[in-house]
Amino acid sequence: MSATPHVSIPQSLDEPVPMTLPRLAEKKRLGEPIAMVTAYDYPSAQVAQAAGVDVVLVGDSGAMTVLGYASTVPVSVDEMLMLAAAARRGLKTPLLVGDLPFGSYEGSDEQAIATAQRFIKEAGCDAVKLERGGTSAERARAIVQAGIPVMGHVGLTPQTATALGGYRAQGRTAERALQVAYDALALQGAGCFSIVFEAIPAAVAEALVPRLEIPVIGIGAGPATDGQVLVFHDLLGIYDGHTPRFAKRYGEIKAQMVAGVADYVTEVRSRAFPGPEHAYSIDEQELEQFNRGLALSAAG
Ligand code: KIV
Repeated sequence: MSATPHVSIPQSLDEPVPMTLPRLAEKKRLGEPIAMVTAYDYPSAQVAQAAGVDVVLVGDSGAMTVLGYASTVPVSVDEMLMLAAAARRGLKTPLLVGDLPFGSYEGSDEQAIATAQRFIKEAGCDAVKLERGGTSAERARAIVQAGIPVMGHVGLTPQTATALGGYRAQGRTAERALQVAYDALALQGAGCFSIVFEAIPAAVAEALVPRLEIPVIGIGAGPATDGQVLVFHDLLGIYDGHTPRFAKRYGEIKAQMVAGVADYVTEVRSRAFPGPEHAYSIDEQELEQFNRGLALSAAG
């Protein structure tokens, strides 16, 4: 077996090149906005791939958008791994980040490393994401030292929303904004390759982004971040639970899906579906022989 790692070489100069950590860092340096979206299965990942996104996050928001939980808290590692593995199969070029679910990394460095390794080995993720500063920065450091790239997440951290007073914007006082800054710097210091800012004032993000060397991806953090992320189901109008103020809708796909299935139901009930074009034919002679055979078997 060759010791040379496999390097995939683009077939033509037009073929999209896989996203890597150095390319992501380069994008920040060049001021090229980074487009990130969540995906939770094969079709949503294929959509992200075809749309040319840079980074796909298998977010624990999937707990709510695809698994129907009331929050992100109950989702298990096994459930997240199944979603992430399906997304992996739909992707070629975007960087794939798996969200470590609540309770799967906070306990100890060993627990954090073991969970992160499962996302890489079993689901094929390129990196993992975890929430908050404080002890999470220590866990991030341990995972990075184990050779796994980590994305941080500060501001509104849904896994601990109750402790933050609910799903509300963070960093709206000088003291709380400084806490966001300390958390972000701690995660950068721990070796995170990128960080998500969720639901913080645009002016706070604007002040912090130039002070961070790593790319900052915003969701509800205004236009000054190095990139943006949206939840797939919010972006396309698939999820009809609470949609945060920052989630711009670029489609109304659920309405289209309901209309399509309702048309199908109507046509089934009126026998308009299936039409001749949806049916298979049989040679006339074969059919006659078949009918004779049926008659004989009924008579005998
Ligand atoms: O789970 C998720 O979708 C996220 C994004 C909102 C960043 O963490």
